[in-house]
Amino acid sequence: MATCTIACIGCGNMGGAMLGGWLAVAGKRDYRLLGMTRTPARAAALVERGLTLCGTAEEAARQADIVVLAVKPYQVADVLAGLSPALDAGKLLVSVAAGVSVARLRAASGGRCPVVRCMPNTPALVGKGVFALCFDDPALTPEARERVQRLFADLGVCVELPEARMTAFSALVGAGPAYVFQMMQGLVQAGATQGFSWAQSRELVAALFEGCACMARQEATPLMEMRDNVCSPAGLTIAGVNALDRAGLTGLLVDAVLAAERRGHEMESGKA
Ligand SMILES: NC(=O)c1ccc[n+]([C@@H]2O[C@H](COP(=O)([O-])OP(=O)(O)OC[C@H]3O[C@@H](n4cnc5c(N)ncnc54)[C@H](OP(=O)(O)O)[C@@H]3O)[C@@H](O)[C@H]2O)c1
Repeated sequence: MATCTIACIGCGNMGGAMLGGWLAVAGKRDYRLLGMTRTPARAAALVERGLTLCGTAEEAARQADIVVLAVKPYQVADVLAGLSPALDAGKLLVSVAAGVSVARLRAASGGRCPVVRCMPNTPALVGKGVFALCFDDPALTPEARERVQRLFADLGVCVELPEARMTAFSALVGAGPAYVFQMMQGLVQAGATQGFSWAQSRELVAALFEGCACMARQEATPLMEMRDNVCSPAGLTIAGVNALDRAGLTGLLVDAVLAAERRGHEMESGKA
């Protein structure tokens, strides 16, 4: 297996999280990791773990097989203008910038190499991300796709999506941590109201979500059946579930995701 050199441009929250995940498997996978960022001090912990920092994005891209772009969406065009002379058809460009289309990435990089659009979510920070990969660029070979799939499988769960579905994914899974943390907050608040310490309540609720997420992934039983199995007739759980049903929690979650998707489409069409 030949060494694969990955250059990550931008080592902030998302770039840093991805680099952290790849550094953890670098020996096993034969990855060589390069980084480039505006404030090198922010990447100090990654350098200690084996990241090599480059002085410019172009220098990083020149040495790379795969260039990962993890700067803010509004910085993408400038950064690509600077590094695109180092790109060629043998390299791959992967962007995690929200809302930046394959066509914009191709145009901003001068069509010099195949591009992949990727949408991550924040649990990538702890190696439990969910990534949508868009392989709509016709210049991508099957080998290149497989290479990118392997790269992101090291960081969490990956799904392949056409570009037309990326906004739906962003509204459901990219924004998903916000919905989940808000639900967790409600339960933690309930625990504190009952007299548990805030810290203990948070620990209990986090373990509750973790356990339920494992069950939901492992079992094929419909979720409503799993819910009803916890509700003994005339018991305490059904009393709580009735309150959630009266408030319309399920419908509220559907509305939240559809509102986020509408806003995503507005933003993509240039509405501030
Ligand atoms: N965080 C998320 O939850 C999330 C989820 C989905 C997608 N994304 C996407 O991930 C991308 C990065 O977001 P983030 O949250 O990681 O932002 P961030 O923490 O602000 O990181 C951006 C990084 O880019 C660096 N940078 C800025 N201009 C640069 C340049 N010209 N050359 C090299 N590096 C430069 C910044 O350096 P400084 O530290 O010096 O500013 C910073 O390290 C965004 O496009 C976002 O849409 C993020």
